[in-house]
Amino acid sequence: MINKVIAIDGPAGVGKSALGKRLANHFGYTFLSTGQMYRILGLKVLAQKIDPKDYEKVVAVALKIDWDFKPNKNNVLEIYADGKKVGSEIFSEEVGGVASKVSSNKDARRVITNKQRELCKKKNIVMEGRDIGTVVCPEAEVKIFLDASAEERAKRRFKQLKEDGKSADFEKILESVCARDRRDTQRTVAPLRQAEDCIYIDTTNINLEQVEQKVLEIIEKNDR
Ligand code: DC
Repeated sequence: MINKVIAIDGPAGVGKSALGKRLANHFGYTFLSTGQMYRILGLKVLAQKIDPKDYEKVVAVALKIDWDFKPNKNNVLEIYADGKKVGSEIFSEEVGGVASKVSSNKDARRVITNKQRELCKKKNIVMEGRDIGTVVCPEAEVKIFLDASAEERAKRRFKQLKEDGKSADFEKILESVCARDRRDTQRTVAPLRQAEDCIYIDTTNINLEQVEQKVLEIIEKNDR
């Protein structure tokens, strides 16, 4: 049996997780950020000094990962890989870059996609990523595609780094956002694209509260 699934897809840095957590909270669903699974794979590939383009070796790493998912008090699924809870090290630019590269590996994707499908069958869930509405769960009740210009996403990332007291170079951030967009949209397996029946929202000029409001209005209208 498939439970209720809300799929959120879109490019890097568009606010999918922030929106997903709010929707999960609103509906009492659990929440999973699927990019973290690709980041964990990327981290393991990095740690083992494997070339992200070495197809067979990356598949072997993916096949060996023992996944577990436990909800925290906010119903966000925390990911455990080989019994170890995932830490903030997966959010570095370096790991993000490797994650983006290994995520074009078809067989590694299959392993991770199957895990995500199992989760869709277990619980009502909000899942965010790049291919949730198109590949992981095309039968999802609600499919949202969030978008924003690359400049706006780089601006948000720059602001966040500054607020965290970290050094940031806007041009470099923009370059990295564009490179990730290219890889995510141009890969042959499960590229980032909109599902035909998605709710498309451009968030370039609206804030998170307004995005959530818009989505809730559309969901309620469709429910009537
Ligand atoms: O959302 P994120 O930035 O944490 O994702 C990291 C990388 O993982 C991203 O560049 C592409 C990949 N990814 C994917 O291919 N499919 C998903 N469902 C989620 C992420």
